[in-house]
Amino acid sequence: MTRVFSGIKPTGHLTLGNYLGAMRRWADVDQHRADALFCIVDLHALTVEHDPARVRRLSRQAATLLLASGLDPALCTVFVQSHVDEHARLSYLLECVATDGEMRRMIQYKEKAGRERERGGGVRLSLLTYPVLMAADILAYGTDEVPVGDDQTQHVELARDLAVRFNQRYGSTFVVPRAVTDSGREVVYGKEGRPGVANLLEILAACTGGNPSGLSGVYESYGALKKDTAEAVVEVLRPVQERHRELCADPGYVEGVLRDGAERARAMARPTVDAAYRAIGLLPAAADIGVTA
Ligand code: TRP
Repeated sequence: MTRVFSGIKPTGHLTLGNYLGAMRRWADVDQHRADALFCIVDLHALTVEHDPARVRRLSRQAATLLLASGLDPALCTVFVQSHVDEHARLSYLLECVATDGEMRRMIQYKEKAGRERERGGGVRLSLLTYPVLMAADILAYGTDEVPVGDDQTQHVELARDLAVRFNQRYGSTFVVPRAVTDSGREVVYGKEGRPGVANLLEILAACTGGNPSGLSGVYESYGALKKDTAEAVVEVLRPVQERHRELCADPGYVEGVLRDGAERARAMARPTVDAAYRAIGLLPAAADIGVTA
């Protein structure tokens, strides 16, 4: 079965764009057609200045929202990155395969490092190595497909490059993934901050299953479009909000899902990461090769 892996970073509040563009499809489509893992990538939240309590809170919140969006732990694996040591273990090995030039060319690094410098703070080394950790997330699970927004395709390309390079140098160890773009995610972000007509049409279409250009003929006034869009959004989010309320009343359930998810994820990642340790030349510990005493 196709293995799908995606990550969600607990650095901000999840938006309508995250839901319509990504999470909804993970729940409606991906978890049914593939062996899917959805990971709250908390280690990635530490690459720029952060508040520890906030990261913890947003991680719990992201897990709750993923479940509220319809991810079903009986169908897919939902877990927190830092609960599974294999990510950090593999990341280091991949740092020994990636080059520093490759890291410095990453568009997101250049943008974010620029912003950090403007703020007058230092740039964390982990911001530079971020794409290597992301490659480890992907490669540890033998991932075939990585549904991500456009802004992440360069990172997925890097994961492919590192997998190919590792396999060539040290023997076939990793599945080489394919990137898949989350439809609509970038459109709904509405980065300009002021939702224009096109943006409203995109949102309305995403909520009602229509298409934006078809809908554009239907509306003569901005007011009517705005009203219908607002109503459509409320309808789409209603079941998510209801489940969210239920889950918030039962935090023990969410914790249990994350505990089981981490256990499953660990069991999946462990053999691949152990194989990579051996392939690259690290001496197995006696216990790992069955030698006792
Ligand atoms: N970098 C991704 C983002 O900012 C999050 C992420 C981390 C991720 N690891 C991943 C996405 C692995 C897909 C697969 O959105």
